[in-house]
Amino acid sequence: MIDQLNQIKEQALQDLPGVQDPAGLEDWRIRYLSRQGSLPLALEGMKDLPKEQRPTVGKLANEVKNAVNTAYEEKKASFESSGNQLPDDPTLPGYPVVTASPHVVSQTLDRIVQTFRRMGFALADGPEIETEYHNFDALNTPADHPARNEQDTFYAKLPPHPKYGRLLLRTQTSTVQIRIMESAKPPFKIIAPGRCYRRDEIDATHGIFFHQIEGLVVDESVTLGDLKGTMEFFFKELLGAETVVRFRPHFFPFTEPSFEIDMAREGHSVRGKKWLEIAGCGMVDPAVLTNAGIDPEKYTGFAFGMGVERIAMMLHGIPDLRLFYENDQRFLKQF
Ligand code: DAH
Repeated sequence: MIDQLNQIKEQALQDLPGVQDPAGLEDWRIRYLSRQGSLPLALEGMKDLPKEQRPTVGKLANEVKNAVNTAYEEKKASFESSGNQLPDDPTLPGYPVVTASPHVVSQTLDRIVQTFRRMGFALADGPEIETEYHNFDALNTPADHPARNEQDTFYAKLPPHPKYGRLLLRTQTSTVQIRIMESAKPPFKIIAPGRCYRRDEIDATHGIFFHQIEGLVVDESVTLGDLKGTMEFFFKELLGAETVVRFRPHFFPFTEPSFEIDMAREGHSVRGKKWLEIAGCGMVDPAVLTNAGIDPEKYTGFAFGMGVERIAMMLHGIPDLRLFYENDQRFLKQF
């Protein structure tokens, strides 16, 4: 039996270098190691051996088993690793380096902010969880005002603020106008970008959250001419010198008079339309200044607000708002 074991080992180790591929290795394994293979069959003879021979033969049997098994595992590993190796060809192109980039909404916001910075605006900020007062009442929108219906939102199940009422997710960045005017003295020339929320049916142009950028300028003798000049200059800077804007009378509770701004670019149209509505603006209502503790006899101001997603859609020809927030890499990688 000792001879038989040695022979099997020798034969197996001799055959192995000739094995060329995984299929050949499997044949080899079946021949020597599987249940019907020559090694297990030979080991069955152990039980017929006289007792005194068993320790010596048992020890040899273990050595042979280990040697054959190890050889098998090494061969198997060599096939696996060579499977992952590309041919060693230095003329092949290198692997591309994958880098991340800011989200297209952030890129658009950055561009808008940079443009206003060049025009001398400072950056301001306010909370996304707001009080009913800052989101509505202070902006001249009392509880029974119809404008509240258009901006229904999500209310927090938290105790109301003792002075400023219920807590809600802000529907507009106009809240920052109030926060700035309450906390500092004019003159102001600020922009306030940020996220807003509304209770809305989700479709291609409506979401339950989106980004706005607000602007507020308050000083002695600020006029409608300043507002128009600022907006015209801004949109030309952002979108190119061929951009034209028009001011269409509109209603906002916190400005008087109020306008919507439409813009058009030579040779461009969106869904067949030349003019695209792009922002709201107006002269700050004296009642709003008074609410915030500013004397409307001494100071006047203008304000504006625009949707960031909307500008991004226009800049890049993006047809559906939902694309921004689905995190589909095929979409995001284009920017
Ligand atoms: N907050 C308005 C909205 O969400 C947009 C807006 C209009 C902002 C006129 C302004 C403004 O500052 O003057 O519909």
